[in-house]
Amino acid sequence: MNLSKRVLNMQESPVRKLVPYALKAKKNGKKVYHLNIGQPDIETPKEFMEAINNYDTRIIQYSYSQGEPSLIEAIKDYYHRDNIYFDNEDILITNGGSEALTFTTIATCNPGDEILIPEPFYTNYNGFTSEVNVNLVPITTKAEDGFRLPKRKEITKLITKKTKAILFSNPGNPTGVVLTKNEMDMLKEIAIENDLFIISDEVYRKMAFDGLKSYSMAELDGISDRLIVIDSVSKRFSACGARIGSIASKNKELTKNILKLCQARLCVATLEQIGAASLYKLPESYSEEIKNTYEKRRDIVYQTLSDIPNVVCKKPQGAFYVVAKLPVENAEDFCVWLLETYNYNGETIMLAPAEGFYGTKGLGKDEVRIAYVLNEEEMKRAMFILREALNVYNQ
Ligand SMILES: Cc1ncc(COP(=O)(O)O)c(C=O)c1O
Repeated sequence: MNLSKRVLNMQESPVRKLVPYALKAKKNGKKVYHLNIGQPDIETPKEFMEAINNYDTRIIQYSYSQGEPSLIEAIKDYYHRDNIYFDNEDILITNGGSEALTFTTIATCNPGDEILIPEPFYTNYNGFTSEVNVNLVPITTKAEDGFRLPKRKEITKLITKKTKAILFSNPGNPTGVVLTKNEMDMLKEIAIENDLFIISDEVYRKMAFDGLKSYSMAELDGISDRLIVIDSVSKRFSACGARIGSIASKNKELTKNILKLCQARLCVATLEQIGAASLYKLPESYSEEIKNTYEKRRDIVYQTLSDIPNVVCKKPQGAFYVVAKLPVENAEDFCVWLLETYNYNGETIMLAPAEGFYGTKGLGKDEVRIAYVLNEEEMKRAMFILREALNVYNQ
């Protein structure tokens, strides 16, 4: 018996593949600071559990395939507060942003079609596309340039007859880039000229620092028929395990057809949707507080990285990640060494080698992604350990 080529060709998660080394390190008594995964340490707002506890039902029934009406209403209002007008039928609730991205890929692409995407990119975009035989075509961006998008012609030359969409996360995982209005306009124009869908992954929306505004693509005119906005409660509300995400689009043909995918998996967990509705009702001050917390952590990480000789990295502007080029030949070997061999007074750190965030072979070999998801004290300690470890490694 042979397994499918589709599953055999899927990439292992670069964020999780070093987990066995981390487990072994912990078994051997080392403390490991996890900077490898985007799992925030911030408490999920208490409103989430309160809403579930107050949910008065004797049977946990299937929810609607489109989603719980109260959650759809809450998401509609959340966009409405920013003058973004989706109707209830434009919104579909999914099992996390992950399922939203899988459904969107299935609905917009045939096997063999292509999606353009700035690299480095959220590594699971590989999975969402390769599992349905869609090819990612990377638009390369570089650490030296702060991972800004290249000029328009560098992007358009990648477009073929098979290109169906442009996909990007904004603010960016893993780069921390917040797209400017001009960059967004450029993507919009490219999409219109080449008749492409725009898949705007906004799961880190509102997490933009230094007073920057992170615009939603939905604030731009003239693209409502081709725009698909992805959202999730995982990051902004620190509720990764709730597995609640959404698709919002004004393209009725698209939402009508994605609803068939929703129906084929029946529904999303009812109780978590009830909890998530309360999160979308939180006041703007909640987002502000979260953003300030990550901004302070960003400063700690960036300051340390800037002080380490031969590290290349520009200041990230949003989300809670940074990709840094390290003075090592092979970042994965370094990450394994950190877990297997190194310790500073019994402590070490776990990073994500960045190679798996690139679609172009050979790129990112000397880069790591750092997720600043620990409190300030721990972040300082972890970055101190990184600095010491690089010293020892390069001796
Ligand atoms: C850019 C981006 N999009 C989507 C997701 C998927 O998130 P979830 O499925 O937890 O909503 C993640 C998770 O890390 C992400 O970083």
